[in-house]
Amino acid sequence: MCGIVGYVGEQHPKEILISGLKKLEYRGYDSSGIALKKDDKVQIIKTVGRISNLEEKLKKTDLLDANIGIGHTRWATHGGVTEENAHPHKIGRVTLVHNGIIENAANLKTELEEEGVIFNSNTDTEVAAALIDKYYDDNALFAIKKAISKIKGSYAFGILFDDDDDKLYAVRKDSPLIIGYGKDGNFIASDIAAIVNYTKDYSLLDEGEIAILTKNNIEVFSNGEMIHKKVIHANITAEDSDKCGYEHFMLKEIMEEPKVLDNLFKKYENFSNLPDLLKYKEIHIVACGSAMYAGIIGANLLEEKCNIKCYVECASEYRYKKVIYDRKTLVILISQSGETADTIAAMRKAKEDNIDTLAIVNVETSTIAREADNALFIGAGVEVAVATTKAYILQVAMLALLTIRANQNKEALMEAKKIPALLNKVLGDREIFENVAKEIYQVHDAFFIGRGIDYAMCMEGSLKLKEVSYIHSEAFQAGELKHGTISLIEKGVPVFAIITDKKIMDKTESNVVEVKSRDASIYTITNNNEVPNHGFRYVVPKVSSYFQSLLVVPVLQLIGYYTACYKNLDIDKPRNLAKSVTVE
Ligand code: AGP
Repeated sequence: MCGIVGYVGEQHPKEILISGLKKLEYRGYDSSGIALKKDDKVQIIKTVGRISNLEEKLKKTDLLDANIGIGHTRWATHGGVTEENAHPHKIGRVTLVHNGIIENAANLKTELEEEGVIFNSNTDTEVAAALIDKYYDDNALFAIKKAISKIKGSYAFGILFDDDDDKLYAVRKDSPLIIGYGKDGNFIASDIAAIVNYTKDYSLLDEGEIAILTKNNIEVFSNGEMIHKKVIHANITAEDSDKCGYEHFMLKEIMEEPKVLDNLFKKYENFSNLPDLLKYKEIHIVACGSAMYAGIIGANLLEEKCNIKCYVECASEYRYKKVIYDRKTLVILISQSGETADTIAAMRKAKEDNIDTLAIVNVETSTIAREADNALFIGAGVEVAVATTKAYILQVAMLALLTIRANQNKEALMEAKKIPALLNKVLGDREIFENVAKEIYQVHDAFFIGRGIDYAMCMEGSLKLKEVSYIHSEAFQAGELKHGTISLIEKGVPVFAIITDKKIMDKTESNVVEVKSRDASIYTITNNNEVPNHGFRYVVPKVSSYFQSLLVVPVLQLIGYYTACYKNLDIDKPRNLAKSVTVE
């Protein structure tokens, strides 16, 4: 997703903007740029590719001696990856950066072109700049308010006006934006990580609020009225955005899993602050990607252990489908970032129908955390790698805790205390998984098969592999493979078999034999020594089904990670991906 940083203060903005954009790289991008303003002069420098390309260009540029500037990392939506389409964009007296999608950009652009506006790019963002400029007649607040009243879609804007002294404007709808309070200047950013080295004190801009920042002051307006904003002190440290000796954030965050799991289990060790889900007749679990796969494990547990009917849906479908709610339905939204556009929309859909919403999130100040009726925080800390690992594990753990709380299973709560140490032991075997990666990293296709909750683990294992290694991978119900896809099995195709459910162990094993007889390479991950070894078998400690996936999926995370290492890929920032998909 796009990233925004802005600064106005005593210092020259360049270092602040570049360091902030680097902290936002994990969001995914394909071009970047900054704008500097001195008096009524604006200088825009932008490039495609990595921020290092922008730094190189800045070194060769005679920069304005500015005290105000805005910066942006662009993840292309409207318009290809070109320098012209990179942000910031300037039309007339307005320079701006944007995160989001303007859905009526084409119509607005046609109207503006008919009024004589000349556009230099084919982005929706430039249309916003032109619209604000159209209404700007020395009253910036009016121009912004008038323009956003015409815009449909999502946006977070950082805006400069040529002739408006050193004032930086910010406004948002659906895309997150914060304002930061510094000792020698003030900031805007897509998230606090971008500016935490300069200030930990910030406020969240809410929908439609317009902020005006100068070096000594910040004013926020809502519907024309100046309002007071609550100041939040960030509890993240510089270490959070440091690899701490690991080669990649992804490995660091996998290795943090025992610690953050232990923290979570300790936080909820006596159930007290966990809602009782038994009061609901059915539960809809709605999320995207890995968060949805965590939800599938949760649904399996809630149905098996508590007899609560559960439906798991991807948010991009749920938000548009006809949902038949029973009045005693709970909608659980799962999201690491709490800013995923589709999941936000699904949450708002449920709330419009007066259905209870519960968020399981990591970012406590996020939109989903703030708008859901109730929110449970997983406490993963900052997760920088685009491919989620520790947050996924904690989402599953939180769903397991909700299940245990519902059936008041004290024995399972005792078992939870053992999981972090058992996971540490599994992670200690990571060299074994590195060897698996060495065997498979040159394949083109891979398959993960399992039944029931094992199949849910396959989904996450498959996503991890394809996300970071770019190997085409598919998770399949073990019994389903023979209904078509088995035609893709040929010599050397790796098939990962997840077998932890004793009730159906033999069934999956027979599916394994089916693919082995077609020369697939079999990698079995199980909790049972009786499961045959067809070349590779890793046995994780056997625990109850509440927690079994917490020992299996990290094995698959590490296999994905090491496979990408062998392919020498950009593991923490895989191509085309964003850490938080804040657009549809
Ligand atoms: C997982 O590795 C991916 N990065 C992606 O599937 C992610 O889980 C999904 O986009 C949901 O993000 P969220 O948890 O922040 O809502």
